[in-house]
Formats: sequence, C-alpha cells, structure tokens
Amino acid sequence: MIIVTGATGRLGRRVVERLLERLPADQVGVSVREPAKARHLADRGVQVRRGDFAEPATLPGAFADAEQALLVSSDRFGEEALRLHRAAVSAAVRAGVGRVLYTSHQGAAADSLFAAMPDHAATEEVLAEAGVPWTSLRNGFYASTVQQLVGRARETGELRAPEDGPVSWTTHDDLAEAAAIVLAEPGRFDGPTPPLTAGQALDLADVAAILSESAGRAIRRVTVDDEDYVADLVGHGMPEPHARAMLGVFLASRRGEFAVVDPTLRDLLGRPPRSVRDLLTASSHSSGQAAHTT
Ligand SMILES: NC(=O)c1ccc[n+]([C@@H]2O[C@H](COP(=O)([O-])OP(=O)(O)OC[C@H]3O[C@@H](n4cnc5c(N)ncnc54)[C@H](OP(=O)(O)O)[C@@H]3O)[C@@H](O)[C@H]2O)c1
Repeated sequence: MIIVTGATGRLGRRVVERLLERLPADQVGVSVREPAKARHLADRGVQVRRGDFAEPATLPGAFADAEQALLVSSDRFGEEALRLHRAAVSAAVRAGVGRVLYTSHQGAAADSLFAAMPDHAATEEVLAEAGVPWTSLRNGFYASTVQQLVGRARETGELRAPEDGPVSWTTHDDLAEAAAIVLAEPGRFDGPTPPLTAGQALDLADVAAILSESAGRAIRRVTVDDEDYVADLVGHGMPEPHARAMLGVFLASRRGEFAVVDPTLRDLLGRPPRSVRDLLTASSHSSGQAAHTT
C-alpha cells in the first residue's frame, strides 16, 4: 500500500490521480485532515484515513501497513513546519513504513534567502537521520506562482515586481506525474533527487516578453523597490512576516537559487515538461484561469 498525505491539496490530489492510472485502487491510500473532502476517492476504492501532522495521535493509523508514504510538505514556515514534518517522519518510521518520500524543493538549502528552503533542508536532515530508506523529491518552483506574479499585467501593461532572477518554473501536473512514477516504480532514487525542473529558467523580463508576444502589445517589466513591495503587500492586508517571506522569493532568485535546469524530470516523464510559454499562452485565452490547472 502507498499512502499519500495532502491528498486534498493541489499537488497531492494530482499524485493520487496519476497513481490510480498505474496501480489498482486497493494499493493506494490517502491520509488527509478532512476525510469528507476525499469521499470521491473512497468511492473509487482508495483507503481514506484521517491524519494531521499537528495531531500525532492520528498518525499511526494513517501510516499503518504502508510500504511507502509520500509526505506532502505542509504550507507552514520555520519551526512550525519542522515540528509538523518531524512528527510525520517519526510516525511513519514507527509504523514500519518501508520508504518515506517527501516533497522538497529544487532550492532546498540551509542558507537560502527564501524561508521555505531552510525548512526543506532541515526536513531532509530529519529524514537522513530517521533510519529508514527515504527519497526527497526536489520539486521545481511551481509554475502557478508565475501566474500570481503576472497578476493584472495583461490589463495594466506593466509587470511590476522586485528585481528577480531566472527560475525553472515547473507545473504541478508534471511534478505530480513524476511523484506517481517514482512511487509506482520504486528503486530509482535514494535521498534527494536531482532538481525536478522544466526545461528552461525564465526571469520576469522573459515572462513579460512572452506576455507581450501573446497579447500583441508591449507589456513592460517594471522593477519595484524591495521595501515598497513589502509595504504594498502589508497595505493590502498581508501580515508583514508573510510579505517578507514573499520578498525572499525575489532575493533568492536574484541570487540564482532557482536557476538550475535538469533533465531528470523530462527523463522520468518520457516527454518534455510543460513550459511557461505554453502555460501563459494558454492562460491568455482563458482570463488567467490556469493558476489552478497547472
Ligand atoms: N515547489 C514549489 O514551488 C512550492 C511552492 C509552494 C509550496 N510548496 C510546498 O508544496 C506543498 C504542496 O503544494 P500544494 O500546491 O499542493 O499546496 P496546497 O494545495 O496548499 O496543499 C498542501 C497540503 O498540505 C496539507 N497539510 C497542511 N497542513 C497539514 C498538516 N498539519 N497535516 C497534514 N497535512 C497538512 C493540506 O491539507 P488540507 O487539504 O486539509 O488543507 C493540503 O492538502 C505545500 O504545502 C508547500 O510545502 C512548494
């Protein structure tokens, strides 16, 4: 049995769909915080278990009888993220899971300027010390983030953001398919995978050029001051720590932390991963809806 956590989230639910194309439903189980949200999976014969990393008592049942468990990283930062991930890893080990997989990031590093990256690096250390075979899927930066950064640029003619650097934007769909392949055909990776990225790293000037081409009019890349960016987000109601974490994405990309491009994802999928050009061109015909379909 393979257990997937976060199966009611954007990545996890896609992983389960791709797994069900490869394995019978009785070999697939999910651990979710709200089983009612996974009723459609139970109806298809998938075992639905309740598991919340923040409630360790729920986890032995969530991971029971699992040969492999994919831990989808939580959406928290810092100590809280680490506490949740530690609880999940130790419960999986105690439940006798044969291999623990974890959704890490291409930029996982203790000294990253983006707060989520040290969390991934620290979780990988927890895994390395857990005494169980493990695989850390070093996922590329979600391409859905590009859609958020583009925002209203198509209407205003300006893509406004702090100074950035190239990022190898990668879709949820491609990363989910890769995770399903790694789970269904085990034995490929031990420890951290190479970066699982699409084929090109683009900065926001490149993105503005693609938008201009598909819109048939100029969309300018306008660099805004870091502190003005934070103040603007806070002015729109975002808590300052969160706004600073968002700025961290730019500081880190400026330093080249997400610029690597690697063929491993393409090799796993047996086809080229979807490109940002493709996504943006498709979304320009669908009023920016693609943020939730990548
Ligand atoms: N590669 C990247 O560029 C990138 C970018 C952003 C985030 N991430 C990471 O990738 C993860 C998955 O991405 P996503 O797009 O699928 O995010 P998402 O849609 O927000 O899904 C996150 C999943 O984590 C589950 N979760 C949160 N707290 C949990 C807890 N205490 N115990 C068990 N499960 C918990 C959520 O459960 P519910 O469904 O019950 O809410 C949800 O299913 C994110 O959580 C984040 O760690 C990666």
